[in-house]
Amino acid sequence: MSGNIVIVGAGHAAGQVVASLRQKNHSGKVTLLGDEAHYPYQRPPLSKKFLAGEMPAARLYFKPPEFYDHPNVTVHQNTTATRIDLNKRLVTDDSGNDYKYEKLVMATGASVRKLSIPGATLAGVHYLRKITDVEAMQAQMRAGAKLTIVGAGYIGLEVAAVAQKLGLQVTVVEMADRVMSRVVSPAVSAFYESEHRKQGVNLMLSTGIASFSGDTSVQAVELENGDSVISDMVLIGIGVIPNIALAESAGLIVDNGIQVNERCLTSDDNVYAIGDCTNHPNELLGRRLRLESVHNALEQAKTAAANICGEQLNYAQVPWFWSDQYDLKLQIAGISSGYDNAVLRGDPARRSFSCVYTKSGRIVAVDAINAPKDFMQSKSLIGRGALLDMGLLADVEIPLKELAD
Ligand code: FAD
Ligand code: APR
Repeated sequence: MSGNIVIVGAGHAAGQVVASLRQKNHSGKVTLLGDEAHYPYQRPPLSKKFLAGEMPAARLYFKPPEFYDHPNVTVHQNTTATRIDLNKRLVTDDSGNDYKYEKLVMATGASVRKLSIPGATLAGVHYLRKITDVEAMQAQMRAGAKLTIVGAGYIGLEVAAVAQKLGLQVTVVEMADRVMSRVVSPAVSAFYESEHRKQGVNLMLSTGIASFSGDTSVQAVELENGDSVISDMVLIGIGVIPNIALAESAGLIVDNGIQVNERCLTSDDNVYAIGDCTNHPNELLGRRLRLESVHNALEQAKTAAANICGEQLNYAQVPWFWSDQYDLKLQIAGISSGYDNAVLRGDPARRSFSCVYTKSGRIVAVDAINAPKDFMQSKSLIGRGALLDMGLLADVEIPLKELAD
C-alpha cells in the first residue's frame, strides 16, 4: 500500500501504527497530528516510576525522536485536528491546514473525567493524564505536604503509593464501598485496602465530596458528611471518557467509543480507529467493549496497520492490564464482570496470590498479585474458555494449566 496515511492523535496507539507501517515497508507518506508537545510516549509510568522521579523523561518515549526523522514521516506536534470531511478525505487542523488522506486512523485516546463541584478549578487541584500534569503535581509534592486523592481506582491508588513513599500525608476519598471496584473482586479490594492502610494512607470509603475550599489555591476538601480534610493539593482520578467528538461530528458511528469492526475499521471504509477511543468487538469474549489499556492500543494499532497494508487481520486478543502499587504487581487477564464464582489461590497474607473468576465453571479472568505464573498461564485458558477443575482450583501447588480441560 503506498497511499497517504493521516493519524489523528499521537499517543501510544499512534506510535505503534507508525512502527508497524514501517515494518511492513509501507511506502506512502505518514502524517501524525498530535495536540501535545511530544512524540508518542507511554503513559503508565506517569503514575508510577516517572511520578516518583525514578525514571528520566527520555525513557517515556515509545521510540526515540530520530525514529520519526524519515522522509515519509511528518509529525505535527501542538496540532489539534478540528474537522474531518469524509467525502473529500480531508482533515483540517486548528490553524486551518488541510491534510489529504487515502486512509485515516483515529487514535484520539481518552480524557480524564472532570469533577464539576464548587472549587474544582482552584490551583492545586490536579488530574493525571499527560506529562504536563505530572510536572504540575511534582512542583507541589514535597515531604509532609497533605495530598487528598479523589477516587480509589488505578490512578488514585498508584499515586497514593508513590506519594506515601515520598513522605506526603495521603488521604484517599472513594465514593464506592471498596477500592478498584470497577475491576476486581471484593477479596482483592480488601487486600489492597489493608495494604494502603498499613502504609499509612488515610482511606475513606463510601464517602462523597461536596466541594474544594480555599482562596486561590485549594486548602481543604469538604466532604458530603460535613467533615473537612485539610489539603495542600488534590488529585482527582475518577475515570476517563473516550475522545469521540471529532469522529462524531464527522458522521462516524459512535456509541461509548468510535464503533469499529474486527479489523478496526469504522463506519467509513477509509477510516480506522484504535486504542482507548474505540468500541470494538472481541470474538474471544463474544461481545463489544471499550478498553483502556496499553495492550489493546498496541494490538489494535498492529491490526489497523496490517489491514491498511492489504492483509486481512482480525483483532482477537485476551485483554490484560497491570498496576504497580508499592512492591505489589497486580496483573489482570480477561474481564471479570459477569463472573459467578471467584476463587482465591494462595494466601493474601503472604502477598502473593491470585483470584480466578469463572462463569459456569469456565475461566473468564484472573487477578494475579505478585503471582506471574498464574497470570501467564491464564491468558490462553481464558482465550479458549477452558473448563476448570473447581474442586482443586484453590490448591496453589497445582499449576493453573493442569486444572484445565
Ligand atoms: P492516548 O495515549 O491517550 O493518546 C491519544 C493522544 O491523542 C493524546 O496525546 C491526545 O491528546 C491526542 N488527541 C486527542 N484528540 C486529538 C485531536 N483532535 N487532534 C490531535 N491530537 C489529539 N494502561 C495499562 O495497560 N497499564 C497501566 O499500568 C496503565 N497506567 C496508566 C497510567 C496513567 C497515569 C494513565 C494516564 C494511563 C495508564 N494506562 C495504563 C492507560 C494507557 O496509557 C492507555 O490505554 C493508552 O495510552 C491508550 O493509548 P491511545 O493511543 O489510545 O491514547
Ligand atoms: N468521588 C469519589 N470517587 C469517585 C467519584 C467521586 N465523585 N467518581 C468516581 N469515583 C471513583 C470510582 O468509584 C472508582 O473507584 O473513582 C474511581 C475511578 O477508577 P477507574 O475507573 O479505575 O479510573 P482511574 O483510576 O481514573 O483510571 C483511569 O487510567 O490507569 C488508566 O487506563 C487506565 O482505565 C484507567 C484510567
